[in-house]
Amino acid sequence: MTTEKVTIHTLREKKRAGDKIAMLTCYDASFARLLDDAGVDILLVGDSLGMVIQGQPTTLPVSLEDMIYHTRAVSRGARRAQIVGDMPFMSYQSSIDEAMRSAGRLVKEGNAEAVKLEGGAQHAELVRRLVASGIPVMGHIGLTPQSFHQMGGFRIQGREDSAARRLVDDARVLEEAGASSIVLEGIPLELAREITETVAVPTIGIGAGPFCDGQVLVIYDLLGMNEEFKPKFVRRYENLALRIRTAVDAYIQDVREGQFPSPDESFSKQATRSSRKPATVSAIALAGGCAPAPSDAGPSPDGDGPTYSTPKKD
Ligand code: KIV
Repeated sequence: MTTEKVTIHTLREKKRAGDKIAMLTCYDASFARLLDDAGVDILLVGDSLGMVIQGQPTTLPVSLEDMIYHTRAVSRGARRAQIVGDMPFMSYQSSIDEAMRSAGRLVKEGNAEAVKLEGGAQHAELVRRLVASGIPVMGHIGLTPQSFHQMGGFRIQGREDSAARRLVDDARVLEEAGASSIVLEGIPLELAREITETVAVPTIGIGAGPFCDGQVLVIYDLLGMNEEFKPKFVRRYENLALRIRTAVDAYIQDVREGQFPSPDESFSKQATRSSRKPATVSAIALAGGCAPAPSDAGPSPDGDGPTYSTPKKD
């Protein structure tokens, strides 16, 4: 894997070469560093953060300030991946001027390298203006969660012929307007294939089958953070909910029994070097539950260092 920065050109070249694009959502610097190191091509700071981070029932309440805050955090952790900031509900729908200002803030204050917006042909002029101003745009069609009320819930889109035709047209118009990639969410795999074969820009699918140029998942779903949420299109690669509970149970037990902190994990008046660095919670979780494990991320045993680790770029 190359360490070269992923740009709109890298992504287009990947489509041309038939190389699949791996995109994940990301909301903070710690995850950004891990996902970037793993080689993810695009980190999407999705407004899904309204649901998985803020605990809201939809993405509608997310503000532009929220998006800027999280996008900036992600940009601090990533080096290679393209960072895409989602335009939240009503930050671009009311007027082109307001949309330009919102996107500009995501780029200037959030360090986004592209912005994503939901909807097709109705945003053609906006996409043109953004691209002309130097802001790459990722389109998003199909199941568009910001239209939750208009869709009557989170429903698969494009099953009827007329709706499918509209989505193919939307993709064409977005491409013509200058969008550099398009998310296809919650549509039949046959339709996703047709759109992918129609446009030259990469399509990134979620709940849209295997024929897209790339795939995206919400990182918390991939990691199994919510055991109650298991829609058909999600593949869980971990059961972090269980792992976190096991680790935290062990911590609570250690605290209650006076087993944590040990003298080795404490400071004395006289600074002495200990043979073992303090274990971090994440090290314990990854070690399978409860055994303390050495970690390079913590402060020095003397306490001459930060109390919390910072996911710095190398
Ligand atoms: O907000 C989000 O995370 C998204 C993706 C799931 C495509 O829009």
